[in-house]
Amino acid sequence: MNVVPADLNNVESIVNEIVTRHEGNKHELVAVLNDVQKTLGYLPESALIQVADGLDIPLSKVYGVATFYTLLSIKPMGKHVIRVCESAPCHLLGANSLIDVLRKELRISIGETTKCGTFTLEHTSCLGLCGVAPAIMIDDEVFGNLMPDDIPAILEKYK
Ligand code: FES
Repeated sequence: MNVVPADLNNVESIVNEIVTRHEGNKHELVAVLNDVQKTLGYLPESALIQVADGLDIPLSKVYGVATFYTLLSIKPMGKHVIRVCESAPCHLLGANSLIDVLRKELRISIGETTKCGTFTLEHTSCLGLCGVAPAIMIDDEVFGNLMPDDIPAILEKYK
């Protein structure tokens, strides 16, 4: 993700600008939510309401989409989001041992953010990198063929 959270007082104008950029096209709901998240760091309730208004879509549908996709989040995230694939190939090839190291290094569990706000640790479904399982993604960067010992050096790049 790697965004600096925007001023949440500006949610209305930020969302309006993004909706306008997508020409108010309700078929672009996922893209709109993705752009809002890139700007705000996550999808606060006020943004979901504004998106529903701007695209003329029921709030329940907007909320449903925002909570369905693992790359979208309705809660504040850390500066860097670490997603560990939990689908079968990665699971079989050691994803759990990666999670153990990540939890130990960051002192958080899955779904939590470090106190300093630098890292959020999440599960995700298949990243499309099964050929290099086990795999993780940090922000938009992917890492495959991982061994637990690789994790500390990778984290160091983001500190
Ligand atoms: S199963 Fe992990 S990347 Fe596909």
